[in-house]
Amino acid sequence: MCGIFAYTGKKGKDAGGILLNGLLSLEYRGYDSAGIYMPESGSVKTPGAVAELRKKIPKDFKGKSGIAHLRWATHGEPTAKNAHPHSDCGGEIWVVHNGIIENFKELKEKLSKAGHTFKSDSDTEVLAHLVEEKLSAQGGSASGRNFEKAALAALNEVRGTYGIALQYKKEPDRIIAARMGSPIVLGLGDGEHFIASDPSPILPHTRKVVFLEDGEVAVITPESHRIFRLDATKVKRKATEIDWSAEEAQKGGYEHFMLKEIMEGPEVVRNTLRGRLIEEKGLAKLGGLEGVTKQLEKVDRIIMVACGTASYAGMVGEYMLEEHARIPVEVEIGSEFRYRKAVINERTAVVGISQSGETLDTLEALREGKRHGALTLGIVNTVGSTIARETDAGVYNHAGPEISVASTKAFLSQMTALALLTIFLGRQRGMTQKEGKEIARELKALPEKIEKILEQRGAIEKLAKKYSKNRDFLYIGRKYNYAVAFEGAIKLKEISYIHAEGCGAGEMKHGPIAMIDEHFPTMAIATKDSVYEKMISNIHEIKARKGPVIAIATEGDKEIARLVDDVMYVPQTIEMLSPILNVVPLQLFAYYFAKEKGLNVDRPRNLAKSVTVE
Ligand code: M6R
Repeated sequence: MCGIFAYTGKKGKDAGGILLNGLLSLEYRGYDSAGIYMPESGSVKTPGAVAELRKKIPKDFKGKSGIAHLRWATHGEPTAKNAHPHSDCGGEIWVVHNGIIENFKELKEKLSKAGHTFKSDSDTEVLAHLVEEKLSAQGGSASGRNFEKAALAALNEVRGTYGIALQYKKEPDRIIAARMGSPIVLGLGDGEHFIASDPSPILPHTRKVVFLEDGEVAVITPESHRIFRLDATKVKRKATEIDWSAEEAQKGGYEHFMLKEIMEGPEVVRNTLRGRLIEEKGLAKLGGLEGVTKQLEKVDRIIMVACGTASYAGMVGEYMLEEHARIPVEVEIGSEFRYRKAVINERTAVVGISQSGETLDTLEALREGKRHGALTLGIVNTVGSTIARETDAGVYNHAGPEISVASTKAFLSQMTALALLTIFLGRQRGMTQKEGKEIARELKALPEKIEKILEQRGAIEKLAKKYSKNRDFLYIGRKYNYAVAFEGAIKLKEISYIHAEGCGAGEMKHGPIAMIDEHFPTMAIATKDSVYEKMISNIHEIKARKGPVIAIATEGDKEIARLVDDVMYVPQTIEMLSPILNVVPLQLFAYYFAKEKGLNVDRPRNLAKSVTVE
């Protein structure tokens, strides 16, 4: 997720100031690098966020129009070179982009053969060169060429997701926007027009906006805006008057970032999978591991190191990898691993899982692995973070920035990345094509299934209200959902400040069951899988002690509804992927529970988003 903002006006206003202030309100979308282009002054790009960009902008950087960008890296390190805007060979066509151009490799190859020179590792840059190519293909003198036509022809060749803004030095008043999967909104002012990823940077200037739909292109000038489809047919759309505050706009209309991020689950899983599954061959293509493929073939043991939620993703990964890739896996929290004398050698891979890529205990555990000759890998969301840089290789999550302290969408993407790793390593070690294909097919079906769960959020809100006076909760699960029990519990305790305990369901009778009475509810993850019957027995044990039970169950399981007090249903999937669905109702339950208590959901007390101290 990146943030884009563009402005064209004729009021003698300072476009640079407008663009920089606008970027500030988009910082929640990305902050690893920033850049600006104004036809009258050129471009400035820098690693870091808006404050860094501001420092680098010269005093005489002025103009009436321009495009600006905040990046959350997906392709290429977060350096000035890879920061947007990107340009063509002649520095005349400039582009800012939010999304991923999936066919950028083949386009780049074609354009390089045609003589284009690329300056960055970014997928976005191909678009600027492609427009340049289409413009020169029109022939005639440069002044007679049609920028709009060239942009449209280029967009029709691009596959993937984009929200973009394009500007041509020779036509400084005109900016072209397009949307395919990534949001774009136009702001309609008086003698000025805007393009942005969300309305927040537009709202200080105008409340009249038009939201683009997928497959639509818009052209703005100071006086006008036009919308058409990729096939050039015209679109008529009325403007909407927005009464949100800028902060509400950042949250996409949701009350909290946590809910917004839970709602992004389907998109996040799609993004983690994008371009990485070859379903017909049952293979996973992980570009970040290509350099260490041979070393990975020799690995005979994996140690996953992580903290908190990321460590629960690791526990799910342990079960996936052992069952389907047949590699011994251990999971250890970073703060323990770094101080004990683990037996590690060069056939060990130490895998660090971290949303921020900066968690000190995870980082030090990886360093410890490296000191002992292990291959180190990262499953990281933040491109260019310390863990991403220091590990030998890795897989990026592509979940976009996570703002809420409680990790939700990153957890989904971590488990999805681990499923991809399971196919990748499994196929190196005798996993059949049939098995690889089945996992791939089920992975692809997950986003729609998550959407079905999210549709039930009204019912989950009611349930959270019903239990909101309870002070203690037990979460139980088995096998793949053992880790989900811990994740469900940490979500509730970190934002509601109440006692919630994760426990392996089989372990309950070795202690925790003593706590159960009619005031102590249990959340039982009991979807239809190989341990379903065992879970039902555990639920009976709790009911026999008058404990209320809320079950996470598979759609259509009517029997469980007769046994427990309340049920949250999820669609069926294969057992190894069930945690990716089962955790979603638990995230929603924790969210609505804390909201009911009137707590600061996104910034819980005593916690930081990224723990960079011991
Ligand atoms: O950035 P990381 O993934 O390394 O962070 C690890 C934990 O600090 C993090 O998951 C924490 O447990 C979350 N607040 C849980 O929601």
